[in-house]
Amino acid sequence: MFRFASTVFVITHLWAVLAKSVVSSRQATTDVHLAVAPNCGSLSGPPADINNGLKPLSDYSTIVAFGDSYTSGGTFNGAVLLPPVLSPPNPNAGGRITNGPLWVENLATVANATLQDWAVNGSIVDHNMYPSINFAGIPDYLTQVQNYIGVRPSSVVDDTLYVIFMGMGDYELRNEIYQGPESLTTLASDIIYSILELNSNPVFAKNFLIVDNYGRGTESDAGDAYKASLFSQLYEVSNDLDYDLSFAFVDFKTLWDGVLNGSPGYEAFGYTNAGACLANDNSMTVECDDPNHTFYWIPGNPSAATHSIMAEYVQEVLTQCIV
Ligand SMILES: *[C@@H]1O[C@H](CO)[C@@H](O)[C@H](O)[C@H]1NC(C)=O
Ligand SMILES: *[C@@H]1O[C@H](CO)[C@@H](O)[C@H](O)[C@H]1NC(C)=O
Ligand SMILES: *[C@@H]1O[C@H](CO)[C@@H](O)[C@H](O)[C@H]1NC(C)=O
Repeated sequence: MFRFASTVFVITHLWAVLAKSVVSSRQATTDVHLAVAPNCGSLSGPPADINNGLKPLSDYSTIVAFGDSYTSGGTFNGAVLLPPVLSPPNPNAGGRITNGPLWVENLATVANATLQDWAVNGSIVDHNMYPSINFAGIPDYLTQVQNYIGVRPSSVVDDTLYVIFMGMGDYELRNEIYQGPESLTTLASDIIYSILELNSNPVFAKNFLIVDNYGRGTESDAGDAYKASLFSQLYEVSNDLDYDLSFAFVDFKTLWDGVLNGSPGYEAFGYTNAGACLANDNSMTVECDDPNHTFYWIPGNPSAATHSIMAEYVQEVLTQCIV
């Protein structure tokens, strides 16, 4: 009996050693890569990836971005961002909540476009919808847009792509919304209203890239209603002859489900870990062994490797999901 147990121990131990060496050789050789294709849809169908009239990325010389921590380079005002470089123990690469360039910076690099980043870490769509929360020092999305309209850096509108990536913070705080999670659809209408405002005098914005990832691998009826409302209103607006605008919709659900929900699973992307590299956003004194193959940098926020495949996913939507 004892001998049997010790044989099992030796085998188990040996297996662990072997498994470890397999993992480390994989770390050295395989970069994180996209292992899902876009879920291309139609304008009148359920929310899906589509490109309804956006030109090839290289046609844009400026990208103006609104959003939350996923899109924020830390300046909040469209100014040039600090280099995306870590200086430990600060876990924010040049003010970003990640360890390298953001997805939207990667997109700007591919487009050879100048990025004007107005996104704010921790931002939600509309403070007024949360009477019980104090968002001091964290401009909401509607304020980001007003700040941009107030400054309105001169640009040729046809050559400018406007990026809007909101919804995750609102979904997380949905139970704090005035009148509850069903009011997420009101926030979708706020986003549509802001698009019409940007499309009007004095900005006349024409090209919009709307990104969603509301539940980050989870979903619910209230969240789906928000996304469906956003998607169907985009369709209505683009059909309205009073407005001259093109848009693409990118739903990162396919990517997040692919990594977190087993279809095809994180290993297929070259990740060795579907969790976060750091335990929190205060310090990087306890860092994971393999940040270049870890899905999140801090819990809920993508690593630079993930930001890189997010940009690839957007590029695939723009070229493959033309309607
Ligand atoms: C990128 O854009 C700059 C102007 O902003 C231009 O000088 C340069 O030639 C462009 N590079 C490529 C590869 O198109
Ligand atoms: C980012 O926002 C979150 C939520 O508001 C906050 O807890 C965190 O401290 C912020 N991080 C930085 C670096 O600003
Ligand atoms: C992670 O990737 C970056 C950029 O490709 C590289 O400079 C760095 O050496 C890599 N780090 C590790 C630990 O492999």
